[in-house]
Amino acid sequence: MTQEAWLEQFGLYQQRVNGALEQYIARLPDVAPKLKEAMGYAVLNGGKRVRPALLYACGDMLGIPSERLDGPAVALECIHSYSLIHDDLPSMDNDELRRGKPTCHVVFGEAMAILAGDALQAMAFEVLSNMTFANGQRDCRAEMMAILARSSGYLGMCGGQALDLAATDKAITLTELEVLHNSKTGALLQAALLMPATMAGIKTAELEQLSAYAAAIGLAFQVQDDILDITADTQTLGKPQGSDVLLNKSTYPSLLGLDGARTLTEKLYQEALQALNALPYNTSSLASFADYIIHRNH
Ligand code: IPE
Ligand code: IPE
Ligand code: MG
Ligand code: MG
Ligand code: MG
Repeated sequence: MTQEAWLEQFGLYQQRVNGALEQYIARLPDVAPKLKEAMGYAVLNGGKRVRPALLYACGDMLGIPSERLDGPAVALECIHSYSLIHDDLPSMDNDELRRGKPTCHVVFGEAMAILAGDALQAMAFEVLSNMTFANGQRDCRAEMMAILARSSGYLGMCGGQALDLAATDKAITLTELEVLHNSKTGALLQAALLMPATMAGIKTAELEQLSAYAAAIGLAFQVQDDILDITADTQTLGKPQGSDVLLNKSTYPSLLGLDGARTLTEKLYQEALQALNALPYNTSSLASFADYIIHRNH
């Protein structure tokens, strides 16, 4: 698949998840209107929807109809958007721009922003718990919820964010940085592949290859995020350029230099492709996705 064709496909996935997210937020009753507004503000905006797109691409590859992927895609983006609200808080990265707009706490205050994150997290699990299954389809809700819980909690994103805080103003080793990135960012990207793989019930050997691909692109995604923090501009990024340097974060460019970090993204890209080669499916979308991950400019 050409990169152009992938970007077109990506655009369709973005539209699809945006429509589903809008519906879920609109359907919330107006019991706490400010909270609802803050949730909508943080989730219905210019996010790239990388995780839902990866989930749809993997589901398509495995022959799962898109309607069955909407719930998991929404759930994953809710968790991701919540993680961004909390990541930007004054007690964390203290950033004031996100997806090209003032951050949630800047607009709604810190307390409401914390609650918006909490409520989006709960909503993700509610959406998964409400999934329906036709006759003959295996009810895999519990497995899906376990995947999302693990990838977003102590062993995933939250744990990684804690390591990120602990590694601020401090030199860490490359191995430690890899563990940090894999959990804070890799885990949720991995969930984008594991959820459709579970729905399709693929074989263990195939799951291993898919996991190898996930590990490579998950790490590559955060390495590229670290590179862009230095090389891109604030307007293109939609978030403040130079945030990592300002906060003295441990990143790949800070440990390896920009060239070293770029070399690593290329190496991870090759690893991702190699993992795909061993899969008995049409993996062209996932290959294009890997290419996009390391060449994206925001
Ligand atoms: C930013 O994620 C935070 C990281 C985990 C690197 P994205 O780059 O996917 O941000 P959005 O969703 O497009 O705003
Ligand atoms: C955050 O990493 C990853 C999350 C789990 C939200 P960053 O702090 O580098 O993300 P950005 O650069 O603010 O989007
Ligand atoms: Mg951060
Ligand atoms: Mg941040
Ligand atoms: Mg960053």
